[in-house]
Amino acid sequence: MAPALSGTEGYAEEAEALLVQYEAVPFADVHAPVLHLFPEAPGRVLDVGAGTGRDAAGFAALGHEVVAVEPTEALRLPAMALHASPLIDWLDDGLPELAAVRARREAYDLVMLTAVWMHLDPDQRRSAMPNLASLLADSGALIMMVRHGPVPAGRRMFEIPARETIALADEAGLHCLLHDESESERRRGVHWTRLAFRKR
Ligand SMILES: C[S@@+](CC[C@H](N)C(=O)[O-])C[C@H]1O[C@@H](n2cnc3c(N)ncnc32)[C@H](O)[C@@H]1O
Repeated sequence: MAPALSGTEGYAEEAEALLVQYEAVPFADVHAPVLHLFPEAPGRVLDVGAGTGRDAAGFAALGHEVVAVEPTEALRLPAMALHASPLIDWLDDGLPELAAVRARREAYDLVMLTAVWMHLDPDQRRSAMPNLASLLADSGALIMMVRHGPVPAGRRMFEIPARETIALADEAGLHCLLHDESESERRRGVHWTRLAFRKR
């Protein structure tokens, strides 16, 4: 068996419980502060680290064509069954390279990284950002939610200051549209940074 992609540590073991946990939160609630940045007309969405497919299904319901990237097979296979849709293409791929996604030579109106960026180490973040920027359509947006706080047992996570991500995005030709530090802590000690970028 190929070694797990770095960042995915701990997910396969907990896949069954995570399917329940991630699916319990409504798509529109998770993304309420950035709904205005979603494409108005049906377009192409790339969801990187798509997990159980909650968001892929949400975007498909809005009429978008979705490429859902999920390297953890124990999440991807049940997600494909749970959210089967002709509008969702599932890929076994991952950051920082996104080799399979880039090989498709498509541009996306929206690239989502929801609770994924903090799984990458500094070198991976540095190489991932230009790859993400290269996948954006001219008016496309990159939206990230980055988790802070205690690291769940068995996971690999890093504390990432927003200014670092904003600087990496800037080097990759993206300007910051939105930077929000959430006050609402659903779980003790956990809070979220929300960032959105567009090409300059
Ligand atoms: C906290 S979960 C979030 C799942 C989903 N985005 C959501 O909001 O419900 C993080 C996801 O990132 C995936 N992941 C971890 N490392 C990754 C990497 N290097 N590239 C892409 N995805 C990765 C994990 O397999 C997991 O599905």
